[in-house]
Amino acid sequence: MAYYYTEPSRTFSEYLLLPNLTSKDCNPGNVSLKTPIVKFKKGEKPEVALNIPFSSAVMQAVSDHNMAVALARCGGISFIFGSQPVEEQADMVRKVKGHKAGFVVSRSNLTPQHTLKDVLELKERTGHSTVAITDDGTPTGKLLGIVTSRDYRISRDPQDKLVGQFMTPFSSLIYGKSGSTLSEANDLIWEHKLNCLPIVGAEQNLEYLVFRKDYDAHKENPYELLDGNKSYIVGAGINTKDYAERVPALVAAGVDVLVIDSSDGYTEWQRETIEYVKTNFPKAKIGAGNVVDREGFLYLVESGADFIKVGIGGGSICITREQKGIGRGQASAVMEVAAARDDYFRETGIYVPICSDGGIVHDYHITLALAMGADFVMMGRYFARFDESPTRKLKVGNNFVKEFWGEGSNRARNWQRYDTGGKQSLVFEEGVDSYVSYAGSLQENMEKTIHKIKSTMCNCGSLSIEELQQKARITLVSATSIVEGGAHDVILKENSLSGE
Ligand code: IMP
Repeated sequence: MAYYYTEPSRTFSEYLLLPNLTSKDCNPGNVSLKTPIVKFKKGEKPEVALNIPFSSAVMQAVSDHNMAVALARCGGISFIFGSQPVEEQADMVRKVKGHKAGFVVSRSNLTPQHTLKDVLELKERTGHSTVAITDDGTPTGKLLGIVTSRDYRISRDPQDKLVGQFMTPFSSLIYGKSGSTLSEANDLIWEHKLNCLPIVGAEQNLEYLVFRKDYDAHKENPYELLDGNKSYIVGAGINTKDYAERVPALVAAGVDVLVIDSSDGYTEWQRETIEYVKTNFPKAKIGAGNVVDREGFLYLVESGADFIKVGIGGGSICITREQKGIGRGQASAVMEVAAARDDYFRETGIYVPICSDGGIVHDYHITLALAMGADFVMMGRYFARFDESPTRKLKVGNNFVKEFWGEGSNRARNWQRYDTGGKQSLVFEEGVDSYVSYAGSLQENMEKTIHKIKSTMCNCGSLSIEELQQKARITLVSATSIVEGGAHDVILKENSLSGE
């Protein structure tokens, strides 16, 4: 006979935290968000830990090398999407590992044959006010000039004026030589009062741009997630089909943490994949999932996984529950798996971190996930909204949006993610193609989110995630108390009629 769960499965929005006593030393400046990402023995330290409990989703619309650099700079980790050819994914990993903090590959490029109109359109689309002019319009072409807003006057210059006529030509540019250090580049920026310094190779090819603001940001970032060689830490998604080809390439590229990306991880294919990785690359770290209960957790842990990802059907672009009728409310899934993780730790002395993946809508959901036992969260929609995500920024009406599509949508066609065996195609979709509201830069948004988490932790009398997990008091909320929790029984000024 089928087994019935008598309790409904619950989502984060059905819970709130209760405050504990806040001592005077408990202020956001004293809170640490450091958290393990791979398993470790009692009394030992994990080999890889995050400085903030955030990871970006294994998705085409979220995690490329640019996102990975931006997130590692703030203390979290990206898992570069696996639904691309092996070499292209390995190349992205190499770019992150080879990235020199403060040196960016130019993302806005044109040729001298483009026009002022092209410059203005590019600026509108990307928000970048510095455009590199190269012979072929690529970020590594021969550098012929730079255009900034100081080079043209929108009111006077005709829109069809050629870039070659108004750019600051290479002969007038101050540039740094290939191999310059950040502090050498910074000296030139200060000496010549520049906002941006191009770094140029032997053939006059553009290598990087160094921005004054990035240098400042770099200096100001205490959370950077670096390995022993001072390279950013980066993850990558793999699947249970082509791992024998993909894993060696990713390991050779220097990946720090692998994760098997799948909507349902409680499968023999995942066990085989973990066994392959552990046998052939004993030092490699690999997470597995997704699971939503104790059985799934134990199966993957006993298969050798270094961390476990939790969640089925809660993702913002996910229609798995509608299409297949499987899944579980994210809060219930996290609570059950966290309890299994704690039991396993008591019995074996091995702590296996868990990641709550999908369904984070409000910042406080992150704090709740941590309080319920997650060691870190994975988010897609949250990161897709930022400048650093790899998708197009578009204007819809008066608002800017960014594109965001599921890995199980026809757009991504990531059939390897679905462990159904046999058929090498997506027979039906488990995700949608959508827009999210554009929100600006990752760093600015994350600073706010992190501050909210830290101040809530202080309300709960906790200076670390571990302490929050032990002390948190969590209550279910009724539908009517959710209404009470928002602004109510007032006329909001922004919605009221003007002039009457
Ligand atoms: P979000 O943070 O709510 O946007 O959820 C992101 C998560 O949704 C990812 O980390 C995946 O676990 C999951 N996901 C990504 N693409 C799909 C899809 O097409 N169908 C179902 N789930 C997906």
